[in-house]
Amino acid sequence: MLSIRNPKGLGVPYPCPLSKPKAALRVMPEADSPDNSEAYSLDAMARSKLAALEARALLRQPVETARDGVWVERGGRRLLSFSCNDYLDLSRHPAVKQAAVEATQRYGAGAGASRLVTGNHPLYAALEAKLAALKGTAAAMVFGSGYLANVGIISTLAGANDAVFVDELAHNCILTGAAASGGAVHAFRHNDVEHLAALLTAERSKHRHALIATDGVFSMDGDLAPLPDLAALAADHGAWLLADDAHGVGVVGGGRGSSFAFTPHPDVPLQMGTLSKAVGVYGGYLCASQPVIDLLKSRAASFVYSTGLPPATVAAASAALDIIANDSVTVAKPLAKAKLFTNALGLAPAQSAIVPVVLGDTKKALAAAALLEAEGFLVAAIRPPTVPQNSARLRVTFSAAHDDADILRLADLINTRVLVS
Ligand SMILES: Cc1ncc(COP(=O)(O)O)c(C=O)c1O
Repeated sequence: MLSIRNPKGLGVPYPCPLSKPKAALRVMPEADSPDNSEAYSLDAMARSKLAALEARALLRQPVETARDGVWVERGGRRLLSFSCNDYLDLSRHPAVKQAAVEATQRYGAGAGASRLVTGNHPLYAALEAKLAALKGTAAAMVFGSGYLANVGIISTLAGANDAVFVDELAHNCILTGAAASGGAVHAFRHNDVEHLAALLTAERSKHRHALIATDGVFSMDGDLAPLPDLAALAADHGAWLLADDAHGVGVVGGGRGSSFAFTPHPDVPLQMGTLSKAVGVYGGYLCASQPVIDLLKSRAASFVYSTGLPPATVAAASAALDIIANDSVTVAKPLAKAKLFTNALGLAPAQSAIVPVVLGDTKKALAAAALLEAEGFLVAAIRPPTVPQNSARLRVTFSAAHDDADILRLADLINTRVLVS
């Protein structure tokens, strides 16, 4: 049933949507001798997996990094970061910080319970109204994170008799939500409308409902999904379309996100996104019709069974959305700066604030990131399984706060020291 290639398979949790009882999980030891302590050892298992990851240059470890806008301090050195999704620098905006402080003073540091119990503090209504207005939908709901949003939305709207069609490069949380739905999952080649059309023609009639899910702006590639074509296919095949606008809102479509980057705007009934990137805070959301939002508030497990966001987070996101809605000059900057970079390197013009410099080999990407770090720049090397095999890359992200001269200096370094080797 599962026909998905999962290029970002960091481990898909077992589904637990409200409507589908969880089957018992059986864990089988790899050896059956009860006194074979090494075979049963948790630490031995972890050590052996760590060694295998290290051998393939795939071990990951968070590195302590103090962030102050586009400047960071790491290992005692100050670096200029091109590795952050705070595209508008709103996490540091005085009005955003002030809103967080005031909400904490008034309501305390935590929500105390899930939103359906007592965690639905008065700040949510304003935030959800602003989200719905920005996206032009009848309603909106806020989740604990973008990841939780996709898992909850997809696994609630699609079930065992349904099919989910996903772009092969869609974010891991879309794939996790699709797997958690219990339905058939079909991956279509990246942005390949003809492949999706062929899959829909072959598979759609076998299922009650069908959902097409894609990133609106692809998180590791920075390109836009062809939403008008996807919307037309959804209409032709009686499918629903979800666009994950984590990297679109605040940056493309005048800040309203990827659906608004096209004229006329395609009909995307499920506009999901996060408050953690250009909005500069934390949390996830869905903008949709009133019945869809009402259904998800009752049935999406990641909403029902998870504590509400801290009041400061909701208030800060609300203040940040006001800036996105009103400050078109700042909103235009990350894309303009990304285009300055792609132009300097002779790459295709950036479509968002994310530009990949694909190097292929994992060790080459790590060496390039180390070289740039030695020169005072922080640029993340992205490796499989976050990106497909043999497509390790530098992921360069742009902020309204970057200086053009620094962008050109980085482009020159990449041109003369990275792309030549
Ligand atoms: C496309 C996309 N969707 C969803 C998420 C998850 O959002 P959050 O960080 O709010 O959980 C991310 C985060 O990296 C993302 O890039």
